[in-house]
Amino acid sequence: MAEIICVIGNKGGTGKTTVSHMLCQGFGLLGQRSACVLTDLGREPLAAEGRRYLTADARSREVLAKVMDKLRGLEGWMGVIDGGANRTDMDRHLYKLADLVLLPFRDSHEDMRTVVRDLEMFPRAWALPTQWPTNPWAREAADRSVTQLLGPWQQRILEPVCAVSSSKLLLQKHMPETLPTPLSNACRRLARQVLDLMDLAYDDVADMEEESREQACAATGVAPPEHYEPMPLAAAA
Ligand SMILES: Nc1ncnc2c1ncn2[C@@H]1O[C@H](COP(=O)(O)OP(=O)(O)OP(=O)(O)O)[C@@H](O)[C@H]1O
Ligand SMILES: [Mg+2]
Repeated sequence: MAEIICVIGNKGGTGKTTVSHMLCQGFGLLGQRSACVLTDLGREPLAAEGRRYLTADARSREVLAKVMDKLRGLEGWMGVIDGGANRTDMDRHLYKLADLVLLPFRDSHEDMRTVVRDLEMFPRAWALPTQWPTNPWAREAADRSVTQLLGPWQQRILEPVCAVSSSKLLLQKHMPETLPTPLSNACRRLARQVLDLMDLAYDDVADMEEESREQACAATGVAPPEHYEPMPLAAAA
């Protein structure tokens, strides 16, 4: 029986689709078979060719039920269901089907307020910071916003997926044959985090040096300006 991971949340543009594909790509890099399942009526399916995972089009509830049946029969597979924004009923449906639920959110107070609502509605779900700033001072401000707005949910917040501009390659209808190393590393890091959460073993090919979170989200060597003062929280609100 496949493990089912749902990537959902009410807010649009938080990175649900990108996270779903990064996760599947990362699973592939760790030797794990997976399928990325599209449920968003407003999006078109992406070709599986060249990916390390299958793609499935389950934009109707009937097809979704069939895809879920199929996945359930696939021992050792991972099924990643990409949700769509503003679909609370669908999110509730997917939540019930899932072994693990991810709620991506960006460095924005609006995203954080929305993810609080979703964390309350979905008590088993994990919040996943996405498109996280890569320069140190922006990251510091982002982390402070998380502390301020998501303090009580700190135990349910995962390590961030950093902003990686090449992540958009995964959302091309046809993916390029090779992907940039920073993207592959980010995919692997996300997949590892999820497999660890689910207590699942994986082949960890040691072709990536262990990175600390700071290195993972490292800036391009840009240091904060000399007289940089972090933005006061009140001004960030
Ligand atoms: N880690 C990332 N680094 C850089 N850009 C990202 C990252 N994740 C997402 N993006 C960009 O942010 C935008 C929104 O991402 P995505 O389509 O994955 O969000 P979504 O939650 O699926 O949106 P929707 O609610 O419309 O389904 C896209 O342009 C995508 O390329
Ligand atoms: Mg999407």
